[in-house]
Amino acid sequence: MRSIYLDHAATTPTDPAVLEAMIPYYQDRYGNPSSLHSFGRAAKSAVETARKKVAAFLGAEPEEVVFTSGGTEANNMALRGVARALRNRGNHIVISPVEHHAVLEPCRDLAEEGFEVTLLAVDQHGMVNPDDVAGVLTHRTILVSVMHANNEIGTIQPLAEIGRLAHEKGIYVHTDAVQTFGHIPFTVDDIGVDLLSLSAHKMYGPKGVGALYVRAGTRIAALLRGGGQEGGRRASTENVPGIVGLGKAVDLACGKMTGEIGELSRLRDRLITGIRERVERVRINGHPEKKLPGNASISFDGVEAEPLLLTLDLMGIACSGGSACSSTNVETSHVLAAIGLDPGLARGTLRFSLGRATTEEEIDRVLDVLPPVVRRLRSAGRKEPKEMRRS
Ligand SMILES: Cc1ncc(COP(=O)(O)O)c(C=O)c1O
Repeated sequence: MRSIYLDHAATTPTDPAVLEAMIPYYQDRYGNPSSLHSFGRAAKSAVETARKKVAAFLGAEPEEVVFTSGGTEANNMALRGVARALRNRGNHIVISPVEHHAVLEPCRDLAEEGFEVTLLAVDQHGMVNPDDVAGVLTHRTILVSVMHANNEIGTIQPLAEIGRLAHEKGIYVHTDAVQTFGHIPFTVDDIGVDLLSLSAHKMYGPKGVGALYVRAGTRIAALLRGGGQEGGRRASTENVPGIVGLGKAVDLACGKMTGEIGELSRLRDRLITGIRERVERVRINGHPEKKLPGNASISFDGVEAEPLLLTLDLMGIACSGGSACSSTNVETSHVLAAIGLDPGLARGTLRFSLGRATTEEEIDRVLDVLPPVVRRLRSAGRKEPKEMRRS
């Protein structure tokens, strides 16, 4: 039985062409880009070629791209870097409540250090209302950070409008674009941001590499200080094979992205419609139109996501839950809580995230397998004595 992978929002397979492009930089082209000899120059030239590709894809200049170890580091650098650089100007940061932990956690630290962090409201689709942003900005606000698209429910935020309102007051805008870079077309000017985080492993590139776009003139302090790489903005010897892989993944996205959007949306709609027809008491999360093409977040009433996930896994289908589960506790997703989802429904939420290789046959197999599993778990849940049930 071939496994069906529907967890592309967690990570994507590395494209074979990406791997092929990377291998020489582990083998004969292993130079350190800071070295002056021919090995170093070859590595440096590969890094700069990748930088040009990422910049062109974002509609930016190469000098505005800083390579990092991934989306988490890029988010930390944006938040902590701007906070440190602008500490004397203000101490107020505005974020949405549906941000990834890689934004929420550095903000928690900054709050402990004396920064004031405002959490915006979102509607039932997880969408920020730009008027709310306008309403919370003060003369002490230094940064607004709202993710481009949510990793759990796929909702795409109205960044251009948020950016316009913040820029009227001279406030920087950062976005975590880890789920959109290479998946939907945009430039940094289209969405009006000064800082943008991206990650290679969410778009068929390698793990452990990403970038932060920093608009020319944006004041930001370095997180990592040392040998002065990346123009002094991020010290540490560059991950040359990873950066080359990111560049290659961008090449592939350039050719495939437009076609993929149509196909992924078609397959996602087939999955959602099929589940709605076959299973009662389901709820589809996220914005009905403004959402990632490959995302389907579905809540099943009367079912716990964990046994559902594990049963699907045994049957060769990999997807993810809407909650962070461990053997000792089930923590409801902060995203599902922020959209006001009933905690019971939140605990029964699965995220299917489709990818480049997903086929109609795979979706149809999910539609065959999933409904009887949900029915079985629902009736087992009903028979379970009350005291055995999870609260
Ligand atoms: C929205 C979002 N931001 C940030 C990250 C972290 O990226 P990375 O794994 O490259 O550190 C992820 C990955 O799960 C993500 O989905």
